[in-house]
Amino acid sequence: MGGGALKDSYGRTIDYMRVSVTNKCNLHCIYCMPGKCFEGDDVLSMEDILTVCSCGAELGIRHIRLTGGEPLLRRDCAELVYRLKNIKGIRTVTLTTNGILLRDYADRLFDSGIDGINVSLDTLDREKYKFITGADELYSVIDGIQRAVERGIFVKINSVIMRGINEDDISSILLFVKHRPVAVRFIELMPVGEGSKYIGVSGAEILARLENAKPYTKRIGRGPAVYYKAEGYKGIIGFIDPMSNKFCPQCSRLRLDSDGRLRSCLAYDDGFDMLPAIKTGREAVKDVIKKAVAEKPLGHCFEKGIAPKDGMYCIGG
Ligand code: 5AD
Ligand code: SF4
Repeated sequence: MGGGALKDSYGRTIDYMRVSVTNKCNLHCIYCMPGKCFEGDDVLSMEDILTVCSCGAELGIRHIRLTGGEPLLRRDCAELVYRLKNIKGIRTVTLTTNGILLRDYADRLFDSGIDGINVSLDTLDREKYKFITGADELYSVIDGIQRAVERGIFVKINSVIMRGINEDDISSILLFVKHRPVAVRFIELMPVGEGSKYIGVSGAEILARLENAKPYTKRIGRGPAVYYKAEGYKGIIGFIDPMSNKFCPQCSRLRLDSDGRLRSCLAYDDGFDMLPAIKTGREAVKDVIKKAVAEKPLGHCFEKGIAPKDGMYCIGG
């Protein structure tokens, strides 16, 4: 139990599973789900998620990240974190949230043993925030970040910069990180769903605006981000450039959709329906995981115009 290692056909070790616990969201970001409103039920129950993750752990999955939609819309989110943390073999459980409900959940998440929280925040300007997300909630998010930091949770801010929309906000985001012990990661926009309507800005371009950044020698986290430490900054600055610095050869991930589909890559619509396997039993679930790993593609083909039809709120980022 918990001793295996999952290798794909290209020799990559697969030890990380992103789990989209819901496709509902309380925001409508322009590059993700503008104007769409999701009601409807989430397909996977807490027990289903625990089954897939514990089977994954037996095969070699060591790290779980909960995503959405907005994961904190599921009331059982903190309990889910607690139970995932107790699975043998699982080393870290983290969460990616838009932060609106974080102020209320930070204590519970801390108590559940969460290993880190990523908060999506693309601007610190109230009007711009409203424009990008459709909601006047900037200060709820900032309060949520503050609360999580006070509890000692490691917070990373995810910022997606779009040409002509929030380029001007880079300096205020950097200032936010200068004064707080958090990380910011500038994520280059991918042409997924609504994201294809905007133009992204590469990390190299953002870095060029940052005068005194010094290479940060220690890599933080296991993700594809490259981090820098700047003189006088409490926080650190990272870049995730799926387009201009394609990191697919180092990818270690599987993704479980909120509708129960296991994808081996966010860039394609295909995947394996987990629901019949969950009903059949643990061996069937493990077989699906092994199959998804065996068929994991080498990487995305965004540069050739090949992109999934599903939006990021389904895939989970
Ligand atoms: N390209 C890059 N990042 C995206 N996100 C959502 N859509 C896109 C896209 N098309 C980001 C969100 C969130 C993370 C999970 O993914 O801002 O922080
Ligand atoms: Fe919601 Fe995240 Fe999509 Fe924004 S990017 S609409 S916060 S799921």
